[in-house]
Amino acid sequence: MSKTQDELKRAVAEAARDHVAENLPAGAILGVGTGSTANFFIDALATIRDRLGGAVASSEATRARLVAQAIPVLELNEVVERDLPLPIYVDGADEIDAGLAMIKGGGGALTREKIVAAVADTFVCVCDASKRVAVLGSFPLPVEVIPMARAHVARELAKLGGTPKLRAGDLTDNGNLILDVHGLVIADPVRLEVTINQIAGVVANGLFAQRGADLLLLAGHAGVQRHAR
Ligand code: A5P
Repeated sequence: MSKTQDELKRAVAEAARDHVAENLPAGAILGVGTGSTANFFIDALATIRDRLGGAVASSEATRARLVAQAIPVLELNEVVERDLPLPIYVDGADEIDAGLAMIKGGGGALTREKIVAAVADTFVCVCDASKRVAVLGSFPLPVEVIPMARAHVARELAKLGGTPKLRAGDLTDNGNLILDVHGLVIADPVRLEVTINQIAGVVANGLFAQRGADLLLLAGHAGVQRHAR
């Protein structure tokens, strides 16, 4: 019988929990992403919470869910300043290609996700099979923007061939705006990630290509497949 999307998300979340149980040294800190798949992962962590030294959250929503699961949340600055290892970061994606480059930020948490991912040793992406694509870009690319730069950044993004649309009524955890860029065909994700980052007023963009995933756990109707970079 075919599974619902939520059943696939739960299956991949549990596979990620098992990966953490096998690979995270006891007492180490875990990086935790944002979104509906990450929420299933946080819930699955309840069975191994005693093994964790704590977690770093990539959003206020994730922080609240971790606290509700009685998992201690540490500030990323403290982890870095104390030189604590952050061996694994687990997060979902809106799209992922064969090279494990991703579009993220559908939930608006792209900047903090990118920061936590930058600190972590390995990025484990958890997705249902609908997220796997040949070429990134069908999902509108989120770009976090300083409010006063909105119009400038939108004009520059249009020059790159996209159609930016303001995510109305939505401020990020950092107090900024999101432009969702429609109509991009992203043949070279690393190059586009760098190009967009150079626009003045851009905080971060949702391409995770320079630092893509190291391991993809992909849930389909036949089970969870592993794809390593
Ligand atoms: C949050 O900002 C995003 O990057 C999410 O990780 C991504 O959108 C995947 O979310 P879902 O698991 O809800 O599809």
